[in-house]
Amino acid sequence: MKDYLPIKYEKDVLYLLDQRKLPLEEVFAENKTVEDAHTSIKEMVVRGAPSIGYTAIFGMALWIKKHPDFTLDQYRKACEYLKTSRPTAVNLAFEIDRTINVVSEAMTEGHQAAYEAVVQFGHDQLAESERKNTKMAEYAKEELKQVVDKRSYSLMTHCNTGFLACGSLGTALGVVEYLGQSSMIKNVWVDETRPYMQGTRLTSYELTKLKINHEIVVEGAAATLMSQGKVDAIFVGADRIAANGDTANKIGTFNLAIIAKEFNIPFYVVAPLSSFDPAIKSGKDIEIELRDENEILSFRGERIAPKTAKAFNPSFDITQNRFITGIICEKGILKGSFEEQIKELF
Ligand code: MRU
Repeated sequence: MKDYLPIKYEKDVLYLLDQRKLPLEEVFAENKTVEDAHTSIKEMVVRGAPSIGYTAIFGMALWIKKHPDFTLDQYRKACEYLKTSRPTAVNLAFEIDRTINVVSEAMTEGHQAAYEAVVQFGHDQLAESERKNTKMAEYAKEELKQVVDKRSYSLMTHCNTGFLACGSLGTALGVVEYLGQSSMIKNVWVDETRPYMQGTRLTSYELTKLKINHEIVVEGAAATLMSQGKVDAIFVGADRIAANGDTANKIGTFNLAIIAKEFNIPFYVVAPLSSFDPAIKSGKDIEIELRDENEILSFRGERIAPKTAKAFNPSFDITQNRFITGIICEKGILKGSFEEQIKELF
């Protein structure tokens, strides 16, 4: 594992690398209660679907620590509370629900045993994610070799899907990191990802640390770059994948997928099974988080729009399955009829 992990749990405190302050300051925020963890997720101290999930596991450990005589019913209620921190990434509910089993088994040994079991579960999931994401990167490498006949690639990505979003190795950005280790990256087009600037602030921060060649572009540059043959493939992450393969991801993902289809550029979603939600039939049923309009109307706290202007700020969009070349998960690459393959997986 990397020595600069963004999520750490030490001596009953959850430390989160404050992603709101990156790349200018590297500061860890201390979380000592489940309420702190709720705020950290909601306010995007921590963000990215898998990282939100791991934070939630440790958040539930913090709850146990503060409630020595809890019952399973009370624990379930606390779980529901933490799930309200953000709606779109399914990893949040997925990981929280898994802690219920961990707790109900360990609880027979007492409160302290339940606490330790949940903390251990969090650490295990972080370690496991690195193994899964390495597997996904291997699949992606094989796929690229078959689909694009080049020794090194110019890839495009959206939002941030690296170690900040995943705890250790990233998903889509994990593919980039993995290819970079074999000098197979010519360039990465990092789009800014308005309005929260995950591309400019976070993906560029990660690629700089990894010494991977990249250039930041405005999102409006995508069609031009693709039409000029400057993009070999696109890799993005996912916040929730429905039973038919429709994928919720950061707003702007769908635009990229449509443009990629027009220019015959392979477009891949890279996401672990914990980002799938087979209970949801299609993307139409995925709840899309609406965020504060001030993220658009202001920049770093300074108003840039007219005083009376309003903004509409959906944080995610749905890429319909027909625009996706392949979905890469730890079990392999899904291609063609996603619906049947997802059914088999679950
Ligand atoms: O609002 P964010 O920054 O949490 O949105 C994150 C994304 O959309 C990521 O692409 C997604 O969570 C996948 S992270 C591996």
